[in-house]
Amino acid sequence: MARSRGGGPLGNRVILGLETSCDETAAAVVSEDGRVLSNVVSSQARLHERYGGVVPEIASRRHLELISPVVREALLEAEVELESIDLVAVTAGPGLIGALLVGLAAAKGLAWSRRLPLAPVDHLHGHVASLYLEPGAVDPPFLCLLASGGHTLLVDVQERGGFRTVGTTLDDAAGEAFDKGARLLGLGYPGGAEIDRLAREGDPKAFSFPIARVPGLDFSFSGVKTALLYQVRDLGEELDARRADLAAAYQRAIVQALAERTLAAAEQLGADCIAVVGGVAANTELRAALPDAAFAPLELCTDNAAMIASAARYTDALPYPDYLALDAYAAAAA
Ligand code: KG4
Ligand code: ZN
Repeated sequence: MARSRGGGPLGNRVILGLETSCDETAAAVVSEDGRVLSNVVSSQARLHERYGGVVPEIASRRHLELISPVVREALLEAEVELESIDLVAVTAGPGLIGALLVGLAAAKGLAWSRRLPLAPVDHLHGHVASLYLEPGAVDPPFLCLLASGGHTLLVDVQERGGFRTVGTTLDDAAGEAFDKGARLLGLGYPGGAEIDRLAREGDPKAFSFPIARVPGLDFSFSGVKTALLYQVRDLGEELDARRADLAAAYQRAIVQALAERTLAAAEQLGADCIAVVGGVAANTELRAALPDAAFAPLELCTDNAAMIASAARYTDALPYPDYLALDAYAAAAA
């Protein structure tokens, strides 16, 4: 039987993925044909909750504590030994630099110890590649809305190896707008899921929030956030009674902005198929607003390492030991 570098059958390599770009320490084992053999995510959300957002230094330290047990757990759940891994994949950026460096150092150490190749994966490509996992993989071409805590992009995807950005946010990301909105409403962190839950009890028409229509295919969420701030101030002690209505109306404005622009982009580019990925793709109302779109499965919307291993299948890996000097990058390439 033909074998790949690491010993697995050629064409069905076993990939160990690592993801530490923000506040999730994650490891996963994925096969070349897109089966998720394990997908372990240890969220630090509780640790950062009291600060209302991710504290970079705390995140790095926690990644350092968690990375080994999380990798061990991923191998255990997949029922594979490190010896059976053919390729190590890791998020190289964009993200929090200290957090990324922990995952990168761990990946280098694991790959080097087994003389394996290492694939540096772009986090955004990882989110898109969450769609290429089985069961139910989605094939390009499609227009993809990538909406997360750090990014809001519209990308044109023609092949699994990459994408072209056609729209982006001019200020806050959609997930950031959810998180900041939740904070103004006195809800927990991360705020997206909290607003999603509370909005079900409220009337979205009770308040009217602005939907920014900036030129082109870009987004802007700073206006709606400021409008919520003023509304909360105006309500004063009445806030408690109106919190669910505010959450519903605020969510409606963000979802409408996302859905409108996505449909406009699809029309402009002549795309027949729309896909949605990233943490905000978990939002109930967004899923209902784009009923014909392909959404990433819920467990693959928020940060995870299965999507990183998935993207590695379409990324050039560096052979052993060429990756030892590899660096992480904090910002997306312009
Ligand atoms: O993709 P992700 O885990 O991290 C980044 O790459 O940024 O996305 C996290 C974001 C957070 O802002 C969180 O509030 C948001 O996704 N989110 C949601 C929902 N679940 C998570 N936003 C709206 N509705 C949800 N159900
Ligand atoms: Zn992400």
